[in-house]
Amino acid sequence: MALPSAIKLFEMAPRDGLQNEPGTLVPTAIKIELIDRLASAGLTHIEAASFVSPKWVPQMGDAAEVMRGIKRRPDVVYSALTPNLKGLEGALAAGVEEVAVFGAASEAFSQQNINCSIAESLARFEPVLARAKEAGVQVRGYVSCVLGCPYEGDIAPKKVAEVAKALFDMGCYEISLGDTIGVGTPLAAKRMIEATRQQVPIEKLAAHFHDTYGMALANLYAVMEEGVHVIDAATAGLGGCPYAKGASGNVATEDVLYLLEGLGIDTGVDLQAVIDTGYWITRQLGRKPSSKVALARNGGGNQQ
Ligand code: HMG
Ligand code: MG
Repeated sequence: MALPSAIKLFEMAPRDGLQNEPGTLVPTAIKIELIDRLASAGLTHIEAASFVSPKWVPQMGDAAEVMRGIKRRPDVVYSALTPNLKGLEGALAAGVEEVAVFGAASEAFSQQNINCSIAESLARFEPVLARAKEAGVQVRGYVSCVLGCPYEGDIAPKKVAEVAKALFDMGCYEISLGDTIGVGTPLAAKRMIEATRQQVPIEKLAAHFHDTYGMALANLYAVMEEGVHVIDAATAGLGGCPYAKGASGNVATEDVLYLLEGLGIDTGVDLQAVIDTGYWITRQLGRKPSSKVALARNGGGNQQ
């Protein structure tokens, strides 16, 4: 099947990338500079923060300060996670123009991550969607554990499709399908998309793949062949979910860009600027990027 001619990239480093960072809290000024650098590199969709309980995810405790501190560019959408009405009100007060609710295809993960069942989470999202609509704010929906769960193991594609449909019917404009623990392989990814596209139009689906087993690029290629044209990725391959033990970072934005360039698919993003940003943020965190492209291009020596 033909690959999409254009891909929309959704940058995750400031939120999914930093939410799981162990040790001391990443300073607010560093988060703000990261977001501004990513926007300058040409990324037009940036998940910038998370209005969740700071007791649950301390690294995201300064979401309002981050959202207020960034230099907003008119061509960039800065979004934030909002698990409930309290989170949404915080996001609206901080001027957030797009939010996301996050559910799961696994009951056990739903309980661990947001402290409620799948059904309860969907009921909790209804008023979030209604209030967001009233405020003129678009809502994205996530489904986690679409290719496996740290607690339940295999997840049926039918279950993914069911939760995706519920979020879509509720009014989410796009459904991001998360391989939260990065265990998927291409055939499983295709099957999951095949099941889900019967419930939600393919152009409304996004791939959010973590790279724990090194399969993310192969899985992305497989789902692009199915027609998926929205990809979530995190610069430097940062990230992981605090409630998914063993989950490593998102697929690296640098690696996705290199793949897309090779396929002749334009994104408008400056690969070298993203590589430089990846080196810059990982230097703040005391390590190197996990992007292979970043390591290869700079021999590990880039000091930007
Ligand atoms: P709960 O304890 O059931 O909530 O947590 P509650 O309503 O009973 O409230 C308990 C306390 O939290 C109260 O404070 C509330 O005010 C406060 P207290 O009275 O104890 O002082 N609270 C809040 N504070 C700030 N912002 C809020 C908020 N809501 C309640 N929005 C809750 C339920 C959903 C809040 C909690 O479980 C939570 O914050 N979970 C966040 C989990 C999370 O952020 N996980 C990572 C993101 S998901 C992910 O990474 C996957 C994804 O990348 C896709 C993929 O890879 O698959 C998206
Ligand atoms: Mg994630």
